[in-house]
Amino acid sequence: MLQTPTLTQYLLRHLSAHPDQKGLTMIMSDIAVIGKALSREINRAGLINIFGLVGMTNIQGEQVHKLDQIANQLTKDYLRQTGHFSALSSEEEDGVVDMGEYGKDARYVIAFDPLDGSSNIDVNVSIGTIFSVHTRRDDVERTDEKQFFQTGRSQVLAGYILYGSSTVLVFSFGDGVHEFTLDQGLGEFLLSTERIQMPEKCPYYSVNEGNYDYFPQRDRAFIDYLKAENKCDLRYIGSAVADFHRTLKKGGVFMYPAIDKDGTGHYKGKYRLNFENKPMAFLAEQAGAVVLDGERNILDIEPTALHQRAAFVMGSKAMINHYLTS
Ligand code: AHG
Ligand code: MN
Ligand code: MN
Repeated sequence: MLQTPTLTQYLLRHLSAHPDQKGLTMIMSDIAVIGKALSREINRAGLINIFGLVGMTNIQGEQVHKLDQIANQLTKDYLRQTGHFSALSSEEEDGVVDMGEYGKDARYVIAFDPLDGSSNIDVNVSIGTIFSVHTRRDDVERTDEKQFFQTGRSQVLAGYILYGSSTVLVFSFGDGVHEFTLDQGLGEFLLSTERIQMPEKCPYYSVNEGNYDYFPQRDRAFIDYLKAENKCDLRYIGSAVADFHRTLKKGGVFMYPAIDKDGTGHYKGKYRLNFENKPMAFLAEQAGAVVLDGERNILDIEPTALHQRAAFVMGSKAMINHYLTS
């Protein structure tokens, strides 16, 4: 019954192999607590009237759902008191959140998307939480937003929690990407897949084809190729964490191309570089996959704004090479 290690056991083993990573190991354990708490809130959302909108728009210009706000507040409050972080940024917060007394001597900063896939909250479709951890920079103030202008490659921990048919926690310290599944009855995350490697095959492509006419030519040509020659099926959930997780485990292409809806010739990405692209690209590379912004590897991009957006094109090395010649 209990043949697989718990997250606690796994992290203790990680710590004995990496004695310098005590802080990061404790951070991962604390994020798991947030995953359990949010899983509980999400699983009873319909019963305690926390579906629906709060009647506000956030800095992204999006309608804020009650669960966005609950997830954001719970994550901020819990992470603050851990004392691990000098500053925190959230997709739901306009600017950097100062950790105050708790953050004075902290060595890390964290960016997170408290609830990804908000449009799916009220219809019981999988949603997720995404997190990205950097070492605190000493060349700028601890709460300066430049703390988050570090490249994706310099992340020291990244991952997500996916609230689906089961609740899974997927993360990497940069030494393989691993999946844990929550045993609700036990209240423990148990190791379900170690060192995930994305399959080379391409059973699915995943994109919001409703925007096809607004994609750049390369993206349209690539999608045509996937349908005509590669004959892969379409799977699109509209929750980045769920679409990413399926692509990581089953293989395929997952993309959110830049779009130009008003015909200005200016194509814009939707995903947020700090809160979605960078953490997911970090995991993808650990699994042998590649994520571009349409041109560059996401992990090499140095953000210049906290809420900067970028396109997202994920696939195997072979598929991405084909994309670049489309
Ligand atoms: P969020 O809910 O954090 O704003 O993110 C939503 C994102 C992502 O999860 C999803 O893939 C995408 O928005 C869906 O966008 P479309 O509805 O435009 O396809
Ligand atoms: Mn999101
Ligand atoms: Mn979100």
